[in-house]
Amino acid sequence: MRLRGRKGIRESLEQQEDLVVLDPRQYKGKWASLFGNDKPIHVEFGMGKGQFISQMSYKHQDVNFIGVDMYDELIRRASEKGRDVWAAEGLETPPNLKLALMNIENVEEVFEPGEIERIYLNFSDPWPKTKHARRRLTHPRFLDKYKIIMNERGQIHFKTDSVTLFEFSLNSFADYGLQMTNISLDLHREGLNEQFVMTEYETKFVGQGVKINRCEVIVGSEALAEYQAIRLDKYGK
Ligand SMILES: C[S@@+](CC[C@H](N)C(=O)[O-])C[C@H]1O[C@@H](n2cnc3c(N)ncnc32)[C@H](O)[C@@H]1O
Repeated sequence: MRLRGRKGIRESLEQQEDLVVLDPRQYKGKWASLFGNDKPIHVEFGMGKGQFISQMSYKHQDVNFIGVDMYDELIRRASEKGRDVWAAEGLETPPNLKLALMNIENVEEVFEPGEIERIYLNFSDPWPKTKHARRRLTHPRFLDKYKIIMNERGQIHFKTDSVTLFEFSLNSFADYGLQMTNISLDLHREGLNEQFVMTEYETKFVGQGVKINRCEVIVGSEALAEYQAIRLDKYGK
């Protein structure tokens, strides 16, 4: 992603303590108190300009959302987006949204075991060269980290335009012994699927006629029991 250099970005972020978390390590185990309630916490790892996480926070006010990225400029863009979306409600500060500046490599330093209920991975960098496979956010190396920070209702929701990343990821989830469900090779086959909030990349790719792949991955034991009940209902076994 190309970033435009801009003076004062850091200063702008420092003035947004109500929304932006520049040192997320200090909230390890304390995210619920930062939000001021015990609602489940959903994070998007690699949120980019923040369209998805902002709209999700508005659409699902019974959930707390954290948008993560490693670039100041993207956190700033996402802060504008988050405030714009919530301005419709007359609020200057989105009540259930925080934007965290961090590297996903360090998730265990930022979240306590069991602190997160859902992880969204949307259009993660595909890292197409085999020698870079370990950098893919669905590599078992990352699944190890995610599993620690997720609770018993934990799920990963994954979307990508990249067929090679999707193929790699399905194998990674399967090899890890994780149940997958609601797999789609063309999410918007029947026209825009309004059920799912779109990301910036998704909007661009869909406009170009590119097919979007999606799947849900069951991580927590309670989420697995719920999935098994749904499967029984659907297939009778
Ligand atoms: C291809 S963009 C997708 C952005 C957004 N999710 C979307 O769908 O429009 C990937 C994003 O992940 C972020 N990212 C990649 N690796 C990261 C890491 N290790 N830690 C934090 N952010 C990361 C990048 O900065 C970029 O914003």
